[in-house]
This record gives sequence, C-alpha cells and structure tokens, in this order.
Amino acid sequence: MGRNEKHFKNPEKFDPERFTRDEDSPLFAYIPFSLGARACIGQTFAMIESKVVICKLIQQLEFQLVPNQSFDFVEAVTLTPKDGCKTYMTMRNL
Ligand code: HEM
Repeated sequence: MGRNEKHFKNPEKFDPERFTRDEDSPLFAYIPFSLGARACIGQTFAMIESKVVICKLIQQLEFQLVPNQSFDFVEAVTLTPKDGCKTYMTMRNL
C-alpha cells in the first residue's frame, strides 16, 4: 500500500515530510504496525524506543540558529514557530 500511487503521490520518492501533509495521509493506507487482531504487539514499545534512539543521536549534535529568522508563532494547544525553526547542525566534539 505504501508504494501504491492510488494512496500516495510519488510513492517511490524518499519524502519523510509526506507524513506531515494531511493530503498524503489517507485513512488506513499508512499502517506500519498493521491493524486488527494480528497487529504488532510491540507498537507502543517501538514508538518509545524510537524516541530514545533519536535522543541519543541528538545528544551528539550541536545546534545553531540560522540568522534572520522570523520568530512569529502560532497559538495552538502549545506555541509553535510559524515558519519553523531552522538550525545548523554540527557534530559535537565528544
Ligand atoms: C518499528 C518497529 C516495528 C514495526 C514497524 C513492526 C511492524 C509489525 C507488523 C507490520 C506486524 C504484522 C505482521 C503481519 O501482519 O504479518 C507486526 C507484528 C508483530 N510485532 Fe512488530 N513491529 C515493530 C516492532 C516490534 C517490537 C519492538 C516487538 C516486540 C517487542 C514486536 C512484536 C511483534 C509481534 C509479536 C508481532 C506478531 C503479532 C501477532 O501476530 O499477533 N514488533 N509488527
């Protein structure tokens, strides 16, 4: 299903941002852990584990804001940067 043009535009393209766009998230077409009675029992664990892995990777990076950015924000449940938050990333000297 993930490679079917019926569900996703340019399905073969590596485009992680596709999952941030509503129009590219058709209901029940993206089911990495499957659905139903035989769905993945490790889903919750895997999602927590992925955050741990991302934290470990991020600890090895240094972040520096790209100058001249807008600091406008959107008020939702929490405040979110309106135009994103662009940063340069470099490897830390550990
Ligand atoms: C990113 C990580 C993971 C993905 C994408 C994933 C995905 C899936 C998918 C698609 C299935 C259904 C397979 C099928 O229909 O034949 C499945 C089943 C299963 N997964 Fe995962 N899984 C992940 C991590 C884990 C972890 C961490 C565990 C255990 C700690 C786990 C345990 C299982 C088990 C036991 C089943 C079989 C469930 C059953 O048949 O009743 N998975 N997984």
